[in-house]
Amino acid sequence: MRTILAIAAYSLFVSEALACPEHIHHEEDRLRKRAEPGGNVTWAYEASYDWGRLSDSFELCQIGTQQSPIPLSLTQGLSLNHRPYFHYSDTYNASLHNWGYGPAVTLYHPKDDFSQLPHFTFEEESGMNETVYLTGWHVHAPADHSVAGDRSKAELHFVHVTSTGKPRAVIAFRIDPGNTNSPFFSHLPPLIRFKDTETRVPMENFNPILALAEVNFLNEFWTYKGSLTSPPCSEGIRWFVARNVLFVGVKQMQEILFNSIYSARQEQEVWLHQINI
Ligand SMILES: *[C@@H]1O[C@H](CO)[C@@H](O)[C@H](O)[C@H]1NC(C)=O
Ligand SMILES: *[C@@H]1O[C@H](CO)[C@@H](O)[C@H](O)[C@H]1NC(C)=O
Ligand SMILES: *[C@@H]1O[C@H](CO)[C@@H](O)[C@H](O)[C@H]1NC(C)=O
Repeated sequence: MRTILAIAAYSLFVSEALACPEHIHHEEDRLRKRAEPGGNVTWAYEASYDWGRLSDSFELCQIGTQQSPIPLSLTQGLSLNHRPYFHYSDTYNASLHNWGYGPAVTLYHPKDDFSQLPHFTFEEESGMNETVYLTGWHVHAPADHSVAGDRSKAELHFVHVTSTGKPRAVIAFRIDPGNTNSPFFSHLPPLIRFKDTETRVPMENFNPILALAEVNFLNEFWTYKGSLTSPPCSEGIRWFVARNVLFVGVKQMQEILFNSIYSARQEQEVWLHQINI
């Protein structure tokens, strides 16, 4: 197996750290190299326009028809389809850490049993309802998705998996500074710096509803068929991007940025994403 290093100029931020949204593989896998073919290939967000050349197993990054992120706009309207019905409670056992690029939380659950996690149901194109489970979240900075050309300072991804643990849906919250503190960020322990991917701070009262409340429970959203935003860029992920921005206080914004590094993939051209369809 070839080991290919990204161009040296990028090596400062080259990382084999667990990548969005693969941090769902949990604590015990934290130091594992990627399991898929090409699992030893390192890549960098700074060179995201050329991931396809790093490994044959990254070909979807180059030829995929539903790659994320994409630019969004209000002229696309908002979705009346695939509305998520949330079944979130307000107290979960979780741990705060840093995924190497920004703040992250992993929810505890019995091995291979996701049923007690926060979940939501949505109707897929087929007409069938699907239920997906929240295994964790992480922050990207700056935001992956721009709206009408405007890019928020950060983006929070709630990563949801199927009942068998396969990444399936992401709820994306754009984050910008506002006038008051965000109750969601206020309820977290102090954030951990990106240099420290070891520390785990347990939280027995993680409350995902706080984030939903701050974007009006996704009463307005865009949805589209997309992909992981890191190699191997696997497709089959349904994205839900909240229309409302999640506003945080200025100090909170600074704390998020202080603990994050550049982690946004280059925007992809809209192709077969079926935005809001
Ligand atoms: C990654 O590299 C290690 C050490 O060189 C090797 O043992 C392992 O098989 C490689 N894994 C993959 C998936 O290439
Ligand atoms: C969290 O973990 C503690 C200790 O393991 C346990 O007592 C408690 O019931 C758990 N809480 C939830 C909501 O699972
Ligand atoms: C899917 O769930 C929605 C909301 O609960 C419900 O109205 C709809 O009838 C369900 N569709 C199917 C095919 O079960």
